[in-house]
This record gives sequence, C-alpha cells and structure tokens, in this order.
Amino acid sequence: MALPPEAAHSLSLFGLRILPRSGSNFVDPILETDVFGLFFKTPIGIAAGYDKDAKVPSALFDIGFGFVEVGTLTPKPQIGNPKPRIFRLKKDFAVINRLGFNNQGYEVALDSLNACPKGRRPGVLGINIGANKNSTEPISDYVLGIEKFAPQADYFTINISSPNTPGLRDLQAKDQLTKLVGAVSRALKKSNLGRKKTPLLIKIAPDLGTTQLGDIVDIALKFKVDGLIISNTTITRPGSLLSSEKNESGGLSGQPLFDMSTALLAEAYRLSKGKLTLIGVGGVANAQQAYQKILNGASLVQLYTGLVYEGPGLANEISKGLATLLLEGGFKSISEAVGKGIDG
Ligand code: FNR
Repeated sequence: MALPPEAAHSLSLFGLRILPRSGSNFVDPILETDVFGLFFKTPIGIAAGYDKDAKVPSALFDIGFGFVEVGTLTPKPQIGNPKPRIFRLKKDFAVINRLGFNNQGYEVALDSLNACPKGRRPGVLGINIGANKNSTEPISDYVLGIEKFAPQADYFTINISSPNTPGLRDLQAKDQLTKLVGAVSRALKKSNLGRKKTPLLIKIAPDLGTTQLGDIVDIALKFKVDGLIISNTTITRPGSLLSSEKNESGGLSGQPLFDMSTALLAEAYRLSKGKLTLIGVGGVANAQQAYQKILNGASLVQLYTGLVYEGPGLANEISKGLATLLLEGGFKSISEAVGKGIDG
C-alpha cells in the first residue's frame, strides 16, 4: 500500500538526509548562468515547500538542483491545518495541498542553516518568508525574516501567494503590496550595510488578472525588486481534472498548472520588458517544459510536484535534456533563450 502523501514526504526528507549519494551531477557550460549577481550551475531549482525548515539543502544540491528555495518560514513555529492536507491527484499528475505554512519558525531554520552556511554551498540558497496565521502585523513578520536571515540568504522571496493562509493573497493588492515591499526594501538595505545587496523576489499567484499583474510589475520596478517567481499553486480547478480528489480545498500544483502559470510568466515578461528577472514554476516535469518556461521569459526554473511523480533523478534528467534542447534551438546559453518564444 502506498504511504499517505505527507508521510511519504517526511520519509523522502529522511532518506535524503541519510542515504549516500553518487555525487555525479550532470554539468554542461551551456547551463551555467549568472542571474541577479549569483552563479547557477544549472537553472533548475527546487521550489519552496519541499524543504520548509531548511533541513536538507545540501542533499538537494547533491541530487542536481542548481538552487534550493527553503521555506516558507514564519517567525513563530506553527502546525498548519489539520491532516489530511496533501492529496495526490494521480490521474492528473497533480497535487492539492492546504498545509497552511506548517514550519518550525525562523530560529530553528537558522540553526539548521549552520550545517550549510553561506560561502560553503555548492549552489544558491533562497529563503522564502511569510507571515504567521494569527499575526496582527503581517508586514513586521516579513521584516523580521529579512533581519534574521540576511547573513544566510543568497536571495530572499517574499511569499504573498499561498492560498492556505487567510488574507495572505490580499498582500498582492496595490496599496498593501506598496507598504510591504517598501518596508522589506528598507529592512534589506539596513541589513545589507557594507555587504552586497541580497536579491529580493516576490512570489505571486497564477490566479491574478492582467491589471493586478501590471500593478505588481510597476511596484516591483519602482522599489527595484530583482524579480518575480511565477507562480504559486492555483485555487482554480481546470475542467480537465480526472481525479476524485479534485474538489479538496487548497492549492493545485503539477501538470494542470503548467499552461496557466506559463501564460502569466509570458505576460509578466511582456509587461516588464525584460527589466525584471523571472523564475518560472508550475507543472515542470521534463526538459521540454523547462525549456518552454525559458522561452516564455524565465531566467530560472523551479519545480516541486514533478519530483513527487518522477523521483530524485529528475533535476539531472532535466538539465541533460535542456542542454540538448538549447543546442538544437541554436542557443549558446540560457540567457540567449530567455523570452525567445514570445511574439513581438
Ligand atoms: C507548495 N508550494 C509552496 N510555495 C511557497 O512559496 N511556500 C510554501 O510553503 C509552499 N508549500 C508547498 C507545499 C506543497 C505540498 C506543494 C505541492 C507546493 C508551491 C510550490 O513552491 C510551487 O510554486 C507550486 O507547487 C507549483 O510548482 P509545481 O509543484 O507544479 O512544480
């Protein structure tokens, strides 16, 4: 009998921690890329939510990811929503989750990161921060995250797009986002004193309309935010879904999210005219899909649900296939291919 999804996830984290690894990752200069001042061996990264408490970043680098985004982390530990809260939609190669930011809080993650400190990492480590469910001052929760993790983060993501924390997505609205990004930018400037600026990204939902996306792009440009991560899970349920679990509440990820998140990515690329760095995420499970994200404006690509269905060899498999696709496309580098699939 298959393990329930959350137990399988815990087991996979445990396995990553204890099992020996081959250490032979696929490398090819065509995959190497410099994005917001950081060097990536491959543009394929693991999205937030897999390693919420920063327990296994080293192991994730070891299985071929060029970057690892840990979190979402909140100031105080919280247990999240009642179980069951992760559902596999096997027929759709999808997952629905309503975890609700279960995590052990900033302090525990900081301790964990001592095992994989900045300056001694084989890849790039992003820290994804959020707000506690019962927070009365959500903006302060993000500011505290910046202050705490500034010495450890290679980049920061402010997550304002989880559907499972009531009110969180409201931070995507113009006024709220202006306040949040203003406060976070000031905190980052202060924390970075004397050091290189830590890149700052905003992770957005796939369920935004064009006007809202336009507002977000404008605010990001105004505050010199480095980029957007597009996207988080969707609260919509495409009519194509076949699995009986499709009506569980929560965020849907995996194959049914690919087209929706890629369309929003392309729209953001058009709107920002290449001035924001975009990370494409949503439904990537093979090299062709990673390539499509890049052609539609992504400088980097992340995945999570693909790993659930395809297993730990996936990052290397995608890197290998992507190198071939880039060559076949006549590109000499990732950066040459970014946005080349978009008309006009
Ligand atoms: C997520 N995701 C997520 N995102 C985030 O910013 N913070 C989080 O804590 C989580 N947690 C989380 C848990 C689970 C079980 C899943 C499946 C997903 C969203 C994730 O990072 C990604 O944006 C989406 O899942 C879309 O990518 P995939 O999964 O289709 O590759």
